[in-house]
Amino acid sequence: MPETENLHGANLIDAVYGDSPPPLDDPMENYFEASKLHLRALSWDVPGGIALDKSEELRLLTQRAARLNPSRPLIPLPAPAPVDASLTDVIDARRSAENFGRGELTLPVLSGMLEHSYRVRLVQGWPRRPVPSGGALYPLDLYVIAQRVEGLQPGLHHYDPFRHALTRARDVDHETLHLATLQPEMARDAAAMLVIGASFWRSRFKYGQRALRFCLLEAGHLQQNLLLLATGYGLACRPIGGFLDDDFTVDMDYDGVNEAPMYVTLVGPPADDGTPEPPKPRRPA
Ligand SMILES: Cc1cc2nc3c(=O)[nH]c(=O)nc-3n(C[C@H](O)[C@H](O)[C@H](O)COP(=O)(O)O)c2cc1C
Repeated sequence: MPETENLHGANLIDAVYGDSPPPLDDPMENYFEASKLHLRALSWDVPGGIALDKSEELRLLTQRAARLNPSRPLIPLPAPAPVDASLTDVIDARRSAENFGRGELTLPVLSGMLEHSYRVRLVQGWPRRPVPSGGALYPLDLYVIAQRVEGLQPGLHHYDPFRHALTRARDVDHETLHLATLQPEMARDAAAMLVIGASFWRSRFKYGQRALRFCLLEAGHLQQNLLLLATGYGLACRPIGGFLDDDFTVDMDYDGVNEAPMYVTLVGPPADDGTPEPPKPRRPA
């Protein structure tokens, strides 16, 4: 444990702005300002709220929030493998892996990761998922890039959260995507890369500029579910937020403006390939 007792909390604002005032057109500040809500302007700030109140058809339409690929054959998923660990153990044990083993990811484990992170279930007749979502609009889709998944051809697959099944999108150039994670060795060794993509308009029609914030927040919810499930299954995992956007965008058929990849997860058996010893969290004394 580093000696941090006598240090002040980090204040890096000078490192961001230096000696001069921020430029008036600073994109991050502008976006944050534009995405704020104001009591007196809620009908502009949340433009779809009234439309949804007025239209039963629109409300029903939003209940089918997923990319659907009806022309592709469905790859059914088996019953999920059970997770044999308590929630608190899993939370304490989660770590970002530095390396991965060469084993396969089994399909029941992949099925469990998808089922418990994002599968639709009916709650009082309404389709809901294990993650919270602004307005229950679910702007995210989940993709599996199989590299060594038992019974699954390598390549890009889309998760259908309504039917709990995969559809195969295409072969991908794995090496290009490994480089695109900026962690090529780790990505190459992972058994699968999961990609969380967002269709901003599925939230933006209601929440306007706020929608991007919601998509980012929701990607974090989904990622945490995936990481905790991976840990519970004894797998190694690592979230990747810094990736070369365009390479994933093209493979996922996103336009990169209204729809985009948000977050990548590397997952697979741990480096020693044996029964993983969950890392013991060290707490400050
Ligand atoms: C938003 C976010 C983005 C991240 N992006 C990357 C990344 O691009 N590459 C990487 O190797 N790790 C990435 N990580 C993993 C962090 O490096 C890791 O979480 C951090 O070192 C703390 O370690 P821990 O996850 O084991 O607690 C990211 C984590 C988060 C939350």
